[in-house]
Amino acid sequence: MKTTEPFSHVEHAHTHNPLLNHPEPPPAAVRKRLFIGAPFNITLLFILSILLVILNQQVLATNSAFPEKYSRKHSQVDRLKWQRTAFHFQPAKNFIYGPLFHMGWYHLFYQHNPYAPVWGNMSWGHSVSKDLINWFELPVALGPSEWYDIEGVLSGSTTVLPNGEIFALYTGNTNNFSQFQCKAVPVNISDPLLVEWVKYDGNPILYTPPGIGLKDYRDPSTVWKGPDGKHRMIMGSKRNKTGLVFVYHTDDFTNYKLLDEPLHSVPNTDMWECVDFYPVSLTNDSALDMAAYGPGIKHVIKESWEGHRKDWYSIGTYDAINDKWTPDNPELDVGIGYRCDYGRFFASKSLYDPLKKRRVTWGYVAESDKHNQDRTRGWATIFNVGRTVVLDRKTGTHLLHWPVEEIESLRYNGQEFNEIELEPGTIIPLDIGTATQLDIVATFVVDQDALNATSETSYEHGCTKSAGAAERGHFGPFGVAVLADEILSELTPVYFYIAKTAEGGVLTHFCTDKLRSSRDFDEERVVYGSTVPVVDGEELTMRILVDHSVVEGFAQGGRTVITSRVYPTKAIYKDAKLYLFNNATHISVKASLKIWQMAPAQVKPYPF
Ligand SMILES: *[C@@H]1O[C@H](CO)[C@@H](O)[C@H](O)[C@H]1NC(C)=O
Ligand SMILES: *[C@@H]1O[C@H](CO)[C@@H](O)[C@H](O)[C@H]1NC(C)=O
Ligand SMILES: *[C@@H]1O[C@H](CO)[C@@H](O)[C@H](O)[C@H]1NC(C)=O
Ligand SMILES: *[C@@H]1O[C@H](CO)[C@@H](O)[C@H](O)[C@H]1NC(C)=O
Ligand SMILES: *[C@@H]1O[C@H](CO)[C@@H](O)[C@H](O)[C@H]1NC(C)=O
Ligand SMILES: *[C@@H]1O[C@H](CO)[C@@H](O)[C@H](O)[C@H]1NC(C)=O
Ligand SMILES: *[C@@H]1O[C@H](CO)[C@@H](O)[C@H](O)[C@H]1NC(C)=O
Repeated sequence: MKTTEPFSHVEHAHTHNPLLNHPEPPPAAVRKRLFIGAPFNITLLFILSILLVILNQQVLATNSAFPEKYSRKHSQVDRLKWQRTAFHFQPAKNFIYGPLFHMGWYHLFYQHNPYAPVWGNMSWGHSVSKDLINWFELPVALGPSEWYDIEGVLSGSTTVLPNGEIFALYTGNTNNFSQFQCKAVPVNISDPLLVEWVKYDGNPILYTPPGIGLKDYRDPSTVWKGPDGKHRMIMGSKRNKTGLVFVYHTDDFTNYKLLDEPLHSVPNTDMWECVDFYPVSLTNDSALDMAAYGPGIKHVIKESWEGHRKDWYSIGTYDAINDKWTPDNPELDVGIGYRCDYGRFFASKSLYDPLKKRRVTWGYVAESDKHNQDRTRGWATIFNVGRTVVLDRKTGTHLLHWPVEEIESLRYNGQEFNEIELEPGTIIPLDIGTATQLDIVATFVVDQDALNATSETSYEHGCTKSAGAAERGHFGPFGVAVLADEILSELTPVYFYIAKTAEGGVLTHFCTDKLRSSRDFDEERVVYGSTVPVVDGEELTMRILVDHSVVEGFAQGGRTVITSRVYPTKAIYKDAKLYLFNNATHISVKASLKIWQMAPAQVKPYPF
């Protein structure tokens, strides 16, 4: 199964965008979109109204996991219905996998089974948006039809050339499950929606190189022009256990010549899927087109580790003359350094957005409950809210992944909580009404004297090896518990945990504890997380997007990110509550929060 689950990617090779002047959707569609947008923009005006509403400010006694009193019953049907997200992208029904992209309209192409909420009949699903939040679903762009893709139209990318020509490269899963590369073009490039696509007569255009497994070769990238005028395309693969990226040169976008040496490879990192490669600026937050090259620019390689289902990135220098990439720090190389997201997030691909000069990335956020629930629900898997990616210029070692600004247009009924003092062992409910669609920004100020006075040097926390928010240390955990019921029989704590190092420094961990999120089955009943650098002068801040069965957590502006799928059985609908807690034994923290309700986004068929 694993070798048949990549996805598609589309990006522009150039800033030229032939579709910007294209017509708006029909008036009815526009009206509907505005209807959703306008009232919430107005409610933004009220965000500053400060409502400090803390009810029941008593310290609750600690609960054993899953106490039995208060068991409000939610039927299975109600529970599954509640799980559907409101402002994350997901088609009306069935299965999606991995994104990708582009133009005037933002185009999202993704692996999609048009027939069932399970893996199979993999096709290029296609949706378009003007704002990355509200989407129109279009007919499937490419489905399995020929011997070379009859077992699936898998991952790929699109390229827009300066002359307006557009093409897609994708991996065809052949009738004997080999993975060959194919090409397709839109029938009418004057159609802003690019509804119809045709496959190239001469497919497949690329066969597996010698010595490479027939199922270890996929996800052709966008084609870009190097500083020497030659066009390049890259693809992920592996030799034995060494993950690598092949580089091809092309003159005509149909014939591709493999270079002898890979762009980069790392032993023991296995198959690199969905490889993404892009420049980032060392001096500003503007994103760069693929063709950007020269001083003041670093290049990022991102790969999705097949089997582990984790996305890794590394920052380094690209030598375009020799088509070689070198990591800044070999200890933080691809697959052994940092991850894009420490939770459930895979097969991400980024898009260069020439309109707003930003790079936006989406990953595929799979379900983690019982597989047979997918059929009952009628849909499976979602995408995270699109994230802008920039180099973190404060650390120089990290990327910052942050929800696109457009998501803030869904905020309404903002509430503020200022400087709430949390003594060790405190948990406080935050009365904000319904707590299932939220955008939360929380800042924590730690009592520095207490931190300095106490030495707890031996403690090696590490989210994933810990017992979660119930494991109390000197300086953590403290944070926000989302999707919790009234008696804390279900809760998903998102928190910081500070540990002192032997040298007297501090190491801050950012974690999401899924151990008590649901009484139902969860194949990842775990604690997610990693460390997050905190630069001198920074406060500890986290942002959390709660949208029914998905919780996205961002620490320190997106330096460390955790996406979780959660399936509470009790903490749903009106029974979902929000709490602030400090489970540290030796420090107090002061918390300030802004919390918004989030309106649903619109995802619906395009009204032709
Ligand atoms: C694939 O599509 C066909 C209809 O063309 C359907 O009968 C079959 O059940 C589908 N398979 C899966 C796994 O969705
Ligand atoms: C599958 O088909 C391809 C192309 O026809 C061929 O090169 C390859 O050897 C076949 N693989 C197997 C396992 O039969
Ligand atoms: C191509 O699309 C444009 C814009 O929608 C339309 O005006 C034109 O008729 C289309 N051409 C064909 C051949 O369908
Ligand atoms: C892969 O590993 C095998 C066994 O260790 C070795 O014989 C072979 O040469 C390796 N292949 C490549 C391409 O490195
Ligand atoms: C941002 O940085 C890039 C790369 O150094 C540079 O080419 C570009 O001009 C800068 N943009 C702005 C707006 O300063
Ligand atoms: C805590 O210790 C650090 C490092 O030793 C020092 O820089 C800081 O001023 C101290 N803070 C307080 C509040 O004592
Ligand atoms: C705090 O720790 C106690 C003791 O382990 C635990 O029972 C409680 O659930 C924890 N609080 C949170 C919010 O996890």
